[in-house]
Amino acid sequence: MTAIETENLYRRFWRVKAVDGIDLSVPEGAIYGFLGPNGAGKTTAIRLILGLLRPNRGAIRIFGEDLRRRRSKALKNVGVAFETPAHYEHLTGRENLDITRRLLNLDKSEIDRVLETVELTYVADRLVRKYSLGMRHRLGLARALLGKPKLLVFDEPTNGLDPVGIREMREFIKTLPARTGATVFVSSHHLAEIEQIASHVAVIHLGRIVFQGGMTELRSLHAPRLEIACSDAVAARTQLETGVRGVDMRGERLVLELTSMEAAEREAAAVNRRLVEAGLDVHHLAIAPWTLEELFMQVIGAPATSRAAAEGEGGHA
Ligand SMILES: Nc1ncnc2c1ncn2[C@@H]1O[C@H](COP(=O)(O)OP(=O)(O)OP(=O)(O)O)[C@@H](O)[C@H]1O
Ligand SMILES: [Mg+2]
Repeated sequence: MTAIETENLYRRFWRVKAVDGIDLSVPEGAIYGFLGPNGAGKTTAIRLILGLLRPNRGAIRIFGEDLRRRRSKALKNVGVAFETPAHYEHLTGRENLDITRRLLNLDKSEIDRVLETVELTYVADRLVRKYSLGMRHRLGLARALLGKPKLLVFDEPTNGLDPVGIREMREFIKTLPARTGATVFVSSHHLAEIEQIASHVAVIHLGRIVFQGGMTELRSLHAPRLEIACSDAVAARTQLETGVRGVDMRGERLVLELTSMEAAEREAAAVNRRLVEAGLDVHHLAIAPWTLEELFMQVIGAPATSRAAAEGEGGHA
């Protein structure tokens, strides 16, 4: 069964084709990463999928139910959290959840269950006004989890969080399908972040899907790199040039291409051993993740241009 299926989905705002004919296919049980730079059309696509915005054309099916024809049935099993979580500041976390719980006509015990899941029980009776941003995000997730939805849609759930908050959120999302049985659709503009949690991924750029597939397929598009700093970069380069493909100097650092993510750690260790055995002191050795811009170079042969740049060019044509 497919959790979300869109067919030639299209929505524009005046001259801007925010979502330009996309066909998404989100398998049940997946963590589906929806990746794209600012203004790519992620939020618009999500609003369309949730029935919060009408498409100009195209179809959407959620677990096989047509959104246009059977809206309430299609959306019955969907939980949502947006990038800037909106809560009632003058109410406690628990009271905020209670509002949604009553709307959904759920048992009171649901509140404790979701608070527990997002680890907010300890601040449940504190006013949201006094919550940190991380807590607000987690309260948003808790609300999405009310009623045990089969599909969870998160729009940039790590937006504005610090590195610790980002890691917590990532670990949390990663475990959701196993813990709740839900399919997760999550948007982001961080390739590295999505790579660490997703099983499937779609890359959207200027409203169009430029890549869709399994994570393994995406990874095969970009072999990871190894970044090295040591006592003598030139000597290190000479050492490595035989046997390793693509060695580059970047300032004082060496950058070399590894063969695959699977082999990365083994290869990094081998390179390290070789340099140390050659009498060089290695003080930095890191497997470097690709950025979204670098991925775009690979997929569309160009860096991700902004809407303003792309439409400016179009406007003069
Ligand atoms: N309500 C609206 N009215 C007019 N234009 C809009 C509206 N919503 C979105 N757009 C435009 O549609 C395009 C896609 O916007 P969208 O918010 O979907 O992108 P996004 O991928 O979510 O970006 P971000 O990463 O910044 O959240 C942008 O050019 C945006 O300015
Ligand atoms: Mg957005």
